[in-house]
Parts: sequence; C-alpha cells; structure tokens
Amino acid sequence: MAKLIVNADISKGKINKEIYGQFSEHLGRCIYGGLYVGEDSEIPNIRGMRLDVVEALKKLKVPVLRWPGGCFADEYHWKDGIGPKETRKRMVNTNWGGVVEDNSFGTHEFLDFCEIIGADPYINANLGSGTVQEMMEWVEYLTFDGESPMTKLRAENGHPEPWNIKWFGIGNENWGCGGNMTPEYYANEYRRYSVFCKDYYREADKDKPKEEQRKLFRIAGGPNIDDYKWTEEVMKIAGPHAHGLSLHYYTVPGDKWEEKGSATDFDERDWFITMRKAYRLKELIDKHSTIMDKYDPKKRVALLVDEYGTWFDVEPGTNPGFLYQQNTLRDALVAGISLCILMNSNDRVKMGCIAQMVNVLQAMILTEGDKMVLTPTYHVFEMFNVHQDATRVSLDIECDEYSMDVKYENTHQGPHRPDDRKAMKTMPQILSTASVDANGALHISLCNASHIDDAELCLDIRGYNASSVSGRILTADALNTMNDFDQPDAIVPNEFTGLTLKDGKLSCVLPAKSVVVLEVK
Ligand code: AHR
Repeated sequence: MAKLIVNADISKGKINKEIYGQFSEHLGRCIYGGLYVGEDSEIPNIRGMRLDVVEALKKLKVPVLRWPGGCFADEYHWKDGIGPKETRKRMVNTNWGGVVEDNSFGTHEFLDFCEIIGADPYINANLGSGTVQEMMEWVEYLTFDGESPMTKLRAENGHPEPWNIKWFGIGNENWGCGGNMTPEYYANEYRRYSVFCKDYYREADKDKPKEEQRKLFRIAGGPNIDDYKWTEEVMKIAGPHAHGLSLHYYTVPGDKWEEKGSATDFDERDWFITMRKAYRLKELIDKHSTIMDKYDPKKRVALLVDEYGTWFDVEPGTNPGFLYQQNTLRDALVAGISLCILMNSNDRVKMGCIAQMVNVLQAMILTEGDKMVLTPTYHVFEMFNVHQDATRVSLDIECDEYSMDVKYENTHQGPHRPDDRKAMKTMPQILSTASVDANGALHISLCNASHIDDAELCLDIRGYNASSVSGRILTADALNTMNDFDQPDAIVPNEFTGLTLKDGKLSCVLPAKSVVVLEVK
C-alpha cells in the first residue's frame, strides 16, 4: 500500500506555467511540414501555419515556445529570415541532414505563430557563429519602439510595433555544437554579449511599476547532463549577469549513442531503464541546484530545463538527421515523471521545454502530409496543464521501490561510477505532485512507473474540505501502445473510476504503467 499525505494548506510556491513549455527547432519536419506549410499549401492554414496543429496546440495551453534551436540557433543569422520570402537567403542546415533551409519561416512567422497559439516566445540567439552586433540588432528589431535603423526595417517588413519579448537565450550548448567552448570562455563571452542585449525604454511602460516593465530575461547556456564544472564556472563568472541558466538532459535508453534503442520495439528491461533514466532528472536538478545555491543562495537565477525528453533511434526508413520517432505509453510515463520532477523543483526550476513540439524526438504531434495524430505525450501535457500557475502544496509519499537488476554498459551519458550504477537499478514506483488552482480545486498527479505492479493508494487529504473527487487516466495494455495515422485513438485519456472519498481519505488502485490526474473539490 502506498501512503500519501497532502497538506493542501501548506504552500510550496507557484508552479510557473512555463514549466509546460516546448521547443521547436529548424530540424527535420518540426517547422516545415509540422508547424508551417506556407500560405499556398493545400493543407488548411492560417497565414501558412497548419490549422489542425494550431487547434491541437491551443488545447494544450502552451505557455512558452523556444526557437530557432538547438544547435541550429548558433548557425542562424536572423537577418536571413526577414523581408520578402523570394529574396531570403538560403543556407545549409549543417546539423540536421544537410538540407537547404530557405528561411521562409523567420522572426515574423515565429512570432505570428506564437500569437496564434497564445504562447510566449523564447528566442535563442546565436553566440557561437554570430556577432555581438548581430545579437544587439536583433534585440533592437524585436523590442525597441523608438526611431532607429532596426525599427525602420521592422516597419518596412510590416510590423511597426515592437513585440513583447521576455525570454532570451544567449547561445545554446556552447560546450558542443554552439562553439566547443570551455565554461570559462563561454562565461566571459556571455558577459560580453549580454551587455549589448538591451532593455529598451518603452513609452508604454512609463507609468508602470518597475517590476511590470518589459525586460529581457537573459538565459545563459547551461551544462550538458552532469557537467557540474560547467555550472560551477558559469555561475561564478556569468551568474551575476544572468536571470537563468539552462540545462539539457535527454532520456536515452541505449548503451551507445549510435544505438539509442527503438521507440516502439522494446522489452521490459528497456522500459525500466527508460523510467530510471527519466527519473535521473531529479538527481541532476538537485546537484546543479546545489552548485547554484553556492553562488546564488537567494535563488535569483532560475534553472530552465529547456531541452529534455526521450531520444530513440529514428523510425526505420526516415532521414537520420530528422530525428523522427514514434511515441508510446512509455513516452507518456517519461512526460509525467519529468513534469512531476520539474514541478517539485519549482523553487529553482522556472521553465521546462520538451524536445520537440512536432515530428521531432518526443513530440506532441506527428504529421504526414495532411494527416495529424496526437501522441500519448500530448495527452499527458493536456491532462497535467491544470497545474499551470497553480500553488504547489505539500505532498509526502511512501511507496514501494521499482527495481530491476539491469546492467549498464554505457558511458556515453553516465552513469560512470559503480555506485551510480547501483542506484540506477532502483527508483520510487510512484512519482506525484499536488497543487491548488486559482478556483480552489486541488489536483494530484500520479505516475506509476512499474510495468507490472498496480499500487493500492491511500491519500490523506489535510487542510482541505474535500467533498468530491474525479479523475482521468492514461494507460493501455501493451507497453508500446501508440497512436498512428490509422489508429489515432489507440491511447487516449479515460475517466478514472474506483475512487473512494470518505472523511478526507481517498483510496484507489493506481494501475501499473499509468498516468493519473485527480481533481478534488
Ligand atoms: O533537440 C535536438 C538537439 O539536441 C538540439 O539541437 C541540441 O541543442 C541538443 O543537442
């Protein structure tokens, strides 16, 4: 029996809605074919953005969208993506399949897309191969509302008004594809670049209190997985000049980078390893946060996990550079576990961006021509979005361990030490979080990672006058159940039955391999 105590009157702070953020890169068919088909396409679209995808994303309430990369960001020159489309410069997308990028989706299109789906933009600028002047001018183009060369250009391109830009990344993975830099070198570069990313004065802000005036939230490129030295050096040198530090961590079950494992054809061992590696996000956040605490004890600098999710072998027969993978119940559990960890780390973690939105890695949506399908990951994001901007409340859980005697051969992303390997054989069976929303409803999200064991749950709800409960569940019989174009509803959320509520005590059975959200009123 698993025991949970929820103290609904003990606040653990706000769950920033940005924890539900997403990532869209010029990679494979994420932008082209996924989000954007062009105005002349036969696929129904609004100003080139495909309507079916737009409608599906609106239901998710995507709070923030990161763009244009990823590795692409540090090769992207924003001026190539503005002005008349027929004259936009073409480039080679060297990171992703060597395809020609025609720059038809650029700054204006991205910001239009964000507006259409109601998401805030998160622009990741080019530090690796760009210049300080180029970055400075992008900020001016985006945000300045006075008279200047960049605002003149913006008006000529049809947008006289500035956009409301807050989230601004200064480089991506600069330890690797973003320039192969040492942390010290990057941190100093960050300091230089960030000075020129100005907070332009805006007439519209003149009577607003300081905290409400539009300002950039400058994000420094963070570590890869468990590169704690990177965090240490960047926090030491650049921390005082940054509002946020990013962290990237992918769940890769395979032993070698070249053999990450199939997205759909896997066994119980692969399931366990995937769950355990998804759970590793907690250890990484805890350890990076501890280093950040040393330089920033007041937690002024946020940790933004702006790339995470499953990374499997590409679907057979697809372009290896396009990172197109299917999505199963296993991905749903990874999404649920990751979101619980991000929400439970809300003292330091202010944003998460799952990679990526459409057709790439752990996608919400898959498209093929005019067809579209919603993945199990999409359904978890839709079920969980009740936690956006809610108050996290205290939740203590006692549950069984979920263990398997697996051998790890890999060294490509840790664990490297024998003691880590031992720890990687076990994890809590249930991951959970609880929050109270603006209307006073209490939501409890639960993920049963076990591929085999149901869990009897007894929830003691304190500090809350609970009179009714309802729930939704996402699960399926087979571990690799997926939605595809022929069977788009093979796995969808259903009503969760079998809930008993009496005197503030709630009991139910949480099935193996399931994700559940309860609503208590
Ligand atoms: O999301 C795919 C790639 O993974 C991104 O471009 C890069 O930042 C990361 O290595």
